[in-house]
Amino acid sequence: MRGIDKNMSEFIDPNIVKKIESLRKELHKHNYRYYAMDDPEISDSEYDRMMQELIELETEYPELLSPDSPSLRVGASPLKKFETVRHSVKMLSLDNAFSNSDVLDFDRRVRKELGTDEQILYTAEPKMDGVAVELVYEDGTLVIASTRGDGETGEEITANVKTIRTVPILLQPRKEKSVIPVSLEVRGEVVISREGFRRLNEDMLSRGLPLFANPRNAAAGSLRQLDSKMTARRPLEIFFYGTGEADGINIESHWDRLCALKELGFRINPHIRPKIKIDDVLEYYRELEKKRYELPYDIDGMVIKTDSIRLQLRLGSTARSPRWAIACKFKAIQETTRILDISVQVGRTGTLTPVAHLETVNIGGVNVNRATLHNEDEVKRKDVRIGDTVIVQRAGDVIPEIVKVINTARNGNEKVFNMPENCPSCGSRVVRDEKEASVRCSNEFCSAKIKAQIEHFASKRAFDIEGLGDKLTGQLVDKGLLYSYADIFYLDKTEIESLGRMGAKSAENLAEAIEKSKNIPFARFLYALGIRHVGEHIAEILSLKYSSLESLFGATYDELKEIKGIGPVAAKSLIDFLNREENLKKIDRILRSGVKLLFKEEIKKVTLGGKVFVLTGVLETMTRNEAVNKIKMLGGKVSESVSKKTDYVAAGKSPGSKMEKARALGVEIIDEDTLKAMLGS
Ligand code: IVH
Repeated sequence: MRGIDKNMSEFIDPNIVKKIESLRKELHKHNYRYYAMDDPEISDSEYDRMMQELIELETEYPELLSPDSPSLRVGASPLKKFETVRHSVKMLSLDNAFSNSDVLDFDRRVRKELGTDEQILYTAEPKMDGVAVELVYEDGTLVIASTRGDGETGEEITANVKTIRTVPILLQPRKEKSVIPVSLEVRGEVVISREGFRRLNEDMLSRGLPLFANPRNAAAGSLRQLDSKMTARRPLEIFFYGTGEADGINIESHWDRLCALKELGFRINPHIRPKIKIDDVLEYYRELEKKRYELPYDIDGMVIKTDSIRLQLRLGSTARSPRWAIACKFKAIQETTRILDISVQVGRTGTLTPVAHLETVNIGGVNVNRATLHNEDEVKRKDVRIGDTVIVQRAGDVIPEIVKVINTARNGNEKVFNMPENCPSCGSRVVRDEKEASVRCSNEFCSAKIKAQIEHFASKRAFDIEGLGDKLTGQLVDKGLLYSYADIFYLDKTEIESLGRMGAKSAENLAEAIEKSKNIPFARFLYALGIRHVGEHIAEILSLKYSSLESLFGATYDELKEIKGIGPVAAKSLIDFLNREENLKKIDRILRSGVKLLFKEEIKKVTLGGKVFVLTGVLETMTRNEAVNKIKMLGGKVSESVSKKTDYVAAGKSPGSKMEKARALGVEIIDEDTLKAMLGS
């Protein structure tokens, strides 16, 4: 460790110097155990306490600050501008392949170039959809981190990169015999998981800030903050996939090089398939495409790399890209189609959302005939008109959206769309919220709004009432059987049956599902209420802070906005909601029906109290989200990776490497049926 400069520390109590050195050493070690070894020795709160102690000491003795201190994870002083950095080895790009035959062509080219008929071994990796960075280490300490830029020079973002917990600030060899290279440049991809992205945008929304379009933009925006304390609050992660100049890593194959990086504490993607023949590469390509939405972060393809470094050198590179590697992109998640009409949907807070009706198009195996246009500004910005030919995108379970209009396809008959002045459902005048670029129906009793509120209330992540979908909700509201979500618990079987839509059995099932939903964690209850700006994340924060409804009702605006993660916008919205008599009446009506809120203490008491689950493979009778929700509801925890702290690994169909790890660590592996039984379903 570089440690503390002797001259600086001359006049300071040696015990303080020692304490700081030992805290740094411990924090580096725990960080390494957490991310590189996936085997933490201490709890997050203990780690936070040690970090806090170090920060306090460093604030008191600024002369003892050091560039290798783990305290830099929380950010350093803001910059005025980014400096530029020249990469000592150009950061190349990759050529693209789009199909199996492109991949086979690549393999043929490689063999031809090398003048061989023998099979080439490739290492195949997920192509992560983030931001490329280079990190330079001298004597094991991270000294410079930069963006790829134009490949020759990038921007210096060292302070920002140090805030990423998966980045080693100081290298710690895992094995006694591994040596730390004098100089090492490592390259990797910074990403934000889809969950991290969702939370980040929820937070941005609650603070009235503009949203990020996708996780990649969020990662890029977070890395380009002049104030690294801002970056420290973003959920950035990194995977390393190669090196620039690397003195002392004298290795014959790409895979061995990745293993050497792993030994030094760099995080490597766990889904890499090393040293495989071209047929297996094609198989992996298919598998990866199927698995892509199960991974927590976005990937947009596979990268294959000729594994032998000797062969890589023989193949060489063009000015743009290496001849030994290729990016194999996944099937388009974008397709071209035509807009037949644009209608307006009324959401649960009354917001009017323009929706494009499309000529049905198959995107990545799913038929799509609707796409959201978000809001009026978006329609104007993209200049979307009825009759336009457009590019539509769908990714995983997100709502399809219009990427852009193909202007050259216009014939002059396209119709400009304008937001209506009146609600399309109830006819009331709409109001405009300039700050949020939204238009809302002003009528409290608008039936479209009530229907959307009920759908949200009954949805999976809220009360999770199976069978109460949009069609049935629509009928129940239209027939005057539901006036608000609070009425759900007063519906009876005969009323449901009277709609003539379902048989006695289905009506009974629904009544049962309603009954079953009545024990609900406080966070999901708060989320179900559909309060503007109070999404799942904020509901979760509130549920941790308040352990009764009364204490939440007693909170003031000032108190709420000071809570970490809750900004003034969400705080105001919550206070407005609670100040309205009719909302309190609805809550009272829900509780009087026998709904029981589970507050954090009670949740812990239930069967899974504190047990840590890891899910792997595909579950067949429930979605991953459902399983996660249920485990959390019963007081359990869900972790992404297996460690000694894991209590159960629940394995669905085609489980991944987590199962092997569980076996190696002796963690109990349970199948889906057992998981279901534990979750009481
Ligand atoms: S290797 C010379 N491996 O894709 C080889 N790149 O178009 C250079 N990327 O700028 C890159 N995952 O940002 C490599 N497993 C992976 C990757 C990966 C994502 C990105 C990287 C690069 C771009 C190339």
